[in-house]
Amino acid sequence: MSGACTSVALTPPLRAPLLVFGGPYSNIRALTALRARAAELGIGASDIICTGDTVAYCAEPEETVAAIREWGCRIVAGNCEEQLALDAENCGCGFAHDSPCDRLAKGWYAFARRHISSQSRAWMASLPRSLTLAIAGRTVRVIHGGVDRINRFVFASQRELIAEELDRANADIVIAGHAGIPFIRKVRQRVWFNPGVIGMPANDGTPDVWYGLIRTDGDDLILSTHRLAYDHVGAAAALRASGHADGYARSLITGLWPSIDVLPRRERAAAGNRIEQQTARSSVRAFGQVAAVDSRQTFNARVARA
Ligand SMILES: [Fe+2]
Repeated sequence: MSGACTSVALTPPLRAPLLVFGGPYSNIRALTALRARAAELGIGASDIICTGDTVAYCAEPEETVAAIREWGCRIVAGNCEEQLALDAENCGCGFAHDSPCDRLAKGWYAFARRHISSQSRAWMASLPRSLTLAIAGRTVRVIHGGVDRINRFVFASQRELIAEELDRANADIVIAGHAGIPFIRKVRQRVWFNPGVIGMPANDGTPDVWYGLIRTDGDDLILSTHRLAYDHVGAAAALRASGHADGYARSLITGLWPSIDVLPRRERAAAGNRIEQQTARSSVRAFGQVAAVDSRQTFNARVARA
C-alpha cells in the first residue's frame, strides 16, 4: 500500500476551532448532517479531520467516499480503508475468529467490497496512517486505532493501555477513532481524545452519533464531544433495503450495537446508558503537562451544543 504507512506533518498550523470525527461507516445521511453542522459552526474543510473508516456497516459505501472526497476534509486511513485498498478478504478489525462481530463483518464487509470502485480504492491507498499537527503550542497526533496497530481498540476504561499508547505517540494529545464510543481521558500529562463516530450510535441507547471540537480560549485548549442527530430512520431503511446488515439497521434505531464482544467490562456494563457530552480544558502553562479543569478520570460533563 502506497500511503498508508506514512505520517504526515501538517503545516502551517491549523486554525481552531477544529472539528474532529471518526467512522462515517458508509452512512451518507450522517455525513451529510455533519457537513451541515460544520457549516453552521463556520468550520471549513481544511480544519476538519476524520480518523478513518469511511466505509463499513451501512448502505452507501461509494456515495460516502465520494462525499468525503468532495468535502475535502483531512483524513487518516482506518483499517477499512487499508483492507479495501488491498481488496483484502476481511475488514481487518481484529475481531476474534467466529465471534459475533466477526460473523457480522462477513456480511457488511463483503457488501462494501463489492460496491467500492477502483478509483475509491486508489484514494484509500493514498491516505496517511497518521497526521501530526500543532495547535496553540501543542503537538497533536491523529491516528485510527493504536499508535502502532491500526486495529487496536482503545476504550475509556483502559487506563493502562491508554498510558502505554500515549507514551508511544510522542504528542501532547492523541486523537483516535476505531472504538466507536466518545471519550476524553487524561493520563499523567497527556490526553487521549476519541471524538466518537458518525456512522453508528455509541451503544448508549440513543440513535445520535458523535463528533468533537478543539477550541482555544486564550492560551487554553478546550476539547469537547458533541451529539449529532440525523436521519437515522432513513439510514436504517436504506440498510434494510440493501439486505446485508439487519443487525446494524436495528442499531441505527435502537442505539445499541448488535454485538459487544470487543467491549471491556465497564463499557459492556454501560450499554444503553445515555452518554453525556464532555468538555475538558487544558492549560498552556502546564502543557506538555496537560492540565484539565477536572482531574478526575472522567471529566465533568456538561451539555452544550457547540
Ligand atoms: Fe476501524
